[in-house]
Amino acid sequence: MEFDNAVSGRIYINGEITDAAVGIEHGRIKAIKKHIPGAKDYGERLILPARVDPHVHFRDPGFTEKEDFFTGTLSAVFGAVSCVLDMPNTSPFLYRYHAFEEKEHTASKKAVIDYGLITGIRNRILEEKVLKRSPALKIYMAETTGGVVNDLDDLALQYLLNMMKDYEKPVIFHAEDPKFMKKGEEKSLKEHLKNRPDIAEESAVKRLIKTGKPLHIAHVSSKDGAELLKNKTDGQTAEVSPHHLFLTLDSEFENPAYGKVNPPLRTKADRDALWDALRDGRIDMVSSDHAPHTIDEKEEFETSPSGIPGVETALPLMLAAVKNGLLDFKRAVEALIENPANKFCPQKGSIEVGKDADFIIIDMKDIRKIRAEDLHSKAGWTPFEGMDAIFPSSVYVRGNEIIKNGNFEGKKGFGRNLWMIKSAGHNRHS
Ligand code: NCD
Ligand code: ZN
Ligand code: ZN
Repeated sequence: MEFDNAVSGRIYINGEITDAAVGIEHGRIKAIKKHIPGAKDYGERLILPARVDPHVHFRDPGFTEKEDFFTGTLSAVFGAVSCVLDMPNTSPFLYRYHAFEEKEHTASKKAVIDYGLITGIRNRILEEKVLKRSPALKIYMAETTGGVVNDLDDLALQYLLNMMKDYEKPVIFHAEDPKFMKKGEEKSLKEHLKNRPDIAEESAVKRLIKTGKPLHIAHVSSKDGAELLKNKTDGQTAEVSPHHLFLTLDSEFENPAYGKVNPPLRTKADRDALWDALRDGRIDMVSSDHAPHTIDEKEEFETSPSGIPGVETALPLMLAAVKNGLLDFKRAVEALIENPANKFCPQKGSIEVGKDADFIIIDMKDIRKIRAEDLHSKAGWTPFEGMDAIFPSSVYVRGNEIIKNGNFEGKKGFGRNLWMIKSAGHNRHS
């Protein structure tokens, strides 16, 4: 063959499904042609770019009983993801270079797909050496799992965003305003919501948009928050997570703590407003906020940590929602695949010459029910049990078929940190 590898079929190129073939060399897309002799043909199935998930918590190092970089990336690739951005609330918290080195060491040995390690700030310390190797900076405006709060007043916020311009790295915010949060008793999803009311999100989102600076708002969860996003300015983006689109505080869970998450699950009206905002572009993208905790930890509602696993089910749930008429196919591809890649990892996310050869093979007729026992996260549970989903049958990462007919054929250590700074003269992708 003219190439290292090639695939053909109904391929998503430039917003359209086209009969074509893609030639791969050194893990990248070398050519797109009508026909390539010897290409692996996927017939009627769709070939889409794989997904970048810009918001996951893989718990490694520090909380590997919940997840580690192998199980996290394994779960991700089964869910059509070829690159994840891992959040800093591990132990040690990621902001110092020694913590970066430790996490990079473990991730590079275990990852089966590509990744980046997002840095945080603690005690007002942001290390440039870490930031340069990180795809983004994460700011926690309010307390959430991991216990780091960056309490910034408007002046400090402006200062930070001005400074970040020089680094060309997105700044991601957990947007809840501690001023409106309470510490009341918490025995149910309703009480959890009472402690983290809509106004906490509304206030934080308002403050962020008002800066007029590029930034990214994580996991928008309320009608009021979504409404404000119509005022976003240049470079301001927002994400929603599947749990806020598919679940509410009235959903039935095997265990109520499976719905305990920050920001909280809210009402059906909030959920519907989030779908509207996703459809009309106020919300730019979907990220999973994959936040696994063990079944034991989720036993007691009051003491249970907040967080829901979802990296494996995000795209499958959303494709089933397309099939069920909730979202247009093209918009789903934009929100799940193209927009996260454009913002955080532009070498992925579209089938175009020069990009990484990361594909997923999808059969839109292959609807299955989500079952916790079929998923690959260490969590071992899902709040989406029994819901419709369309999983990829194959996933390619840099030209390698990591998932083949539903089976894992990759290996630990294949995944690369795409933000590592290599010595001079080396291409960062080589
Ligand atoms: C996340 C976690 O468990 O790390 N929990 C959550 O409820 N979303 C932290 C976070 O994203 O806020
Ligand atoms: Zn968060
Ligand atoms: Zn998170």
